[in-house]
Amino acid sequence: MKDRTLILIKPDAIRKGLIGVILSRFENVGFKIVKLKMVRLSEEDAKNFYSVHMNKPFFKNLVPFIASGPVVAAVIEGEDVRVVTRKIIGPTNPKYAPPGTIRGDFGTSITENAIHASDSHDSFLKEYEVIFGSQD
Ligand code: CMP
Repeated sequence: MKDRTLILIKPDAIRKGLIGVILSRFENVGFKIVKLKMVRLSEEDAKNFYSVHMNKPFFKNLVPFIASGPVVAAVIEGEDVRVVTRKIIGPTNPKYAPPGTIRGDFGTSITENAIHASDSHDSFLKEYEVIFGSQD
């Protein structure tokens, strides 16, 4: 099976009408979107999705923000997709994200940074389960 990663288009980007623009960044480089879901996460799901950060000071702002409106989750497939995706989205803080990256073009703050992507295979599996349930 080809490599897979999960991206989450965050509520700030959904409110700005950026779903199509953001998904096309991945299709434009030849990746395939193999699963797609729009969902509003409960606070419990949001806490579970970001449980790796539960002891960080920003966790208390992150959870209500992610649960503040619908998100779009996509599973993206292709060669080296996890590494390339992190280049396409750019650094966490939009202030340091170059133009041409998703966060550089559309992020407004470190919390409202438009998009999340899995940073490892383990986080992909965990995040997939929160959004889509068990693997199919
Ligand atoms: P994301 O890739 O979704 O993973 C965790 C999120 O926490 C991160 O993007 C940011 O939106 C948010 N966050 C808020 N403050 C910080 C911080 N100081 N360091 C890292 N991430 C932060």
